[in-house]
Amino acid sequence: MPNQISINKKISPFKKSIEVSSDKSLSIRSVLFASQAVGRSKIYNLLESEDVINTLKAIKKLGIYYKKKGKMYEIDGFGLNGFDPKNNTVINSGNSGTLGRLLLGLLVKSNKKIKLVGDKSLSKRDFSRITEPLKGFGVNIKSNRNFLPVEIQGTDFLRPINYVENKGSAQCKSAIMLAALNTPGVTKIKAKKSRNHTELFFKFLKIPIKIKKEKKYDLIQIKGLHQYNCFDYIVPGDISSSAFFIVLTLLSKNSELIIKKVNINDSRIGVVKILNKMNANIIFKNKKIYKGEKTADIYVRSAKKLKSINCPKILNSSAIDEFLIIFLVAAKAKGVSIFEDLGELNKKESPRLDIAVRFLKMIGIKVFRKKNDIKIYGNPNLNLKNKYYLKNYLKDHRVFMMSCITALIFGGNWKIHDKDSVNTSFPKFIDILKKLGAKIN
Ligand code: S3P
Repeated sequence: MPNQISINKKISPFKKSIEVSSDKSLSIRSVLFASQAVGRSKIYNLLESEDVINTLKAIKKLGIYYKKKGKMYEIDGFGLNGFDPKNNTVINSGNSGTLGRLLLGLLVKSNKKIKLVGDKSLSKRDFSRITEPLKGFGVNIKSNRNFLPVEIQGTDFLRPINYVENKGSAQCKSAIMLAALNTPGVTKIKAKKSRNHTELFFKFLKIPIKIKKEKKYDLIQIKGLHQYNCFDYIVPGDISSSAFFIVLTLLSKNSELIIKKVNINDSRIGVVKILNKMNANIIFKNKKIYKGEKTADIYVRSAKKLKSINCPKILNSSAIDEFLIIFLVAAKAKGVSIFEDLGELNKKESPRLDIAVRFLKMIGIKVFRKKNDIKIYGNPNLNLKNKYYLKNYLKDHRVFMMSCITALIFGGNWKIHDKDSVNTSFPKFIDILKKLGAKIN
């Protein structure tokens, strides 16, 4: 089968320095912000993955011109609501919740009817979390019983909303923030903590925003209708992609890895905080701040004695895309690890909490689940010998990558389906594994 790989050998010790693919959240946001700026923005190191290519295709269909020049993308914005689509334009968001949801926020003033569709996985994900608040702005928006396709037709008579976002979803928060750009008056959001890239873009583009930080929530106020200028942006490496290599190194013997120029925004580094609490020794060096975002080189080496964790719920949102790979560390750590309140994991590209429980049981780990809480009974001697076949029916990129890391660390004979899924977020994944010495067919 062409679209599957096999791994039959653990990885040998490695000492290397790598660069992972660029950050997906920042790539999508930089393109969307450029599409609303006045003038020609230049974006360097844009992640060339399917989610981001779909973002570029989307703005093009909406009338925004872009061009690739070497390593740089030029995007010509015409200011706020500068889209000029044909009526009944269909936008395909592919696998990307971030693109679909954030784009709807930008379409609140469009006078044409736009239809948003997506792939099988995205079509199973809830869109009412976006359509409901957008209705509050006065927009005409319809979904297929809360799912895609969603049809939106904007209005010139937008009104600001007061909204409480209590899922800890940056996609919801950001969709509302982008809708606020085109809305007169002040939009107010009380948002449970989640990644704050959109806020940082607002600040560096000097779009009027006020943020009051509370312990669990941020109180955000945005004054709409402020035109902003085009910008240059260099996208750093993705901590979510790095996480697979951090864990590979931690759980391999006598290995060391440096991952260069990675975004280490505080709202994204839950994975590092959690793993360090489990006795890893992951260090950031060469720290810098670029347009409000922190970057660093990540240093990691094989862990000696990993211990279990009672994972503080406050870290859930900042590690939301990394739990699959964190669970592997819990599977190898001494003791019982506890993770709670992970319902949002089942709202991702596939139902990841369900899948994680099935997967861990498949590799012989005892797991106890109660609703959205799980206990993982670690086995420091875990060593696999059986045959494993992973079907990955919703083509979830992170399920694929987590399965590869499992095979390389714990052994066994693996066939892992849907290698193309990595193109969603991390096209270089297999190449980098091979560079570290992994034997993959
Ligand atoms: C993202 C937010 C997260 C995350 C996704 C990217 C973003 O989703 O899972 O991969 O770029 O805003 P939620 O905001 O729905 O939790």
